[in-house]
Amino acid sequence: MASFHHSWSLSFLLMTWIATIIGRSAGAYAPVGYQPSPWTLAHATFYGDESASSTMGGACGYGNIVTNGYGTDTAALSSTLFKNGYACGTCYQIKCVQSPWCFKASPFTTVTATNLCPPNWSQDSNKGGWCNPPRTHFDMAKPAFMKIAQWKAGIVPVMYRRVPCVRKGGLRFSFQGNGYWLLVYVMNVGGAGDVAGMWVKGSKTRWISMSHNWGASYQAFATLAGQSLSFRVTSYTTKQTLLAYNVAPANWNVGLTYEAKVNFR
Ligand SMILES: *[C@@H]1O[C@H](CO)[C@@H](O)[C@H](O)[C@H]1NC(C)=O
Repeated sequence: MASFHHSWSLSFLLMTWIATIIGRSAGAYAPVGYQPSPWTLAHATFYGDESASSTMGGACGYGNIVTNGYGTDTAALSSTLFKNGYACGTCYQIKCVQSPWCFKASPFTTVTATNLCPPNWSQDSNKGGWCNPPRTHFDMAKPAFMKIAQWKAGIVPVMYRRVPCVRKGGLRFSFQGNGYWLLVYVMNVGGAGDVAGMWVKGSKTRWISMSHNWGASYQAFATLAGQSLSFRVTSYTTKQTLLAYNVAPANWNVGLTYEAKVNFR
């Protein structure tokens, strides 16, 4: 009995010790930030022309996506992927598969979701209604599509995976509204790229919760004119929260974009 007890407590100690080692190393090597999703099958088409001018002013509200940092490697997502705008700003690696039109030399291209590809109920979802639910579909800007397949293909099967967004610089806040109603388009979001919620704080106010307006825009009905503004942003996927203090000076104005010093990764 004594020897049983002894070996039991010994192995208990050993297991605790091993668990501690594993726990420590998991802590030390735990990945930080957003991790890529597994590869999944979907389809891709393209819209617009080589200039990608028709990708401007998409359903996320990024306006001029080129001057706002997204370039021409963008895509409109079917509503299944778009999630009422919560997918705005998310990033995907896309590679063409199982089609003679695929370019073999380029393994994948990375796009940012900036637009919605709306359903067309007058078309069968297997015959033109590519963006009808429950299909997962990327309607890519033509320059992005032309990196993975010949445009003559029209539609190609693709493998895609969601990846962290690599952004230069900090979060960008583009202001609309007026002194009593602040509408903010949050752009250039790194890491998971998406936003679940936002708060604003004027130099004379507490943190005020902002409501989701549309696409990547959030609003606050509050008197904020003449105050410097700070923002708190929570990621939709990772639930991480960032504090961006004094992003806009007291003489902020609508129509302008302010950049924070911080970003997700
Ligand atoms: C939907 O599909 C029909 C039939 O092909 C087409 O005529 C129409 O223009 C499409 N609607 C939109 C909004 O693309």
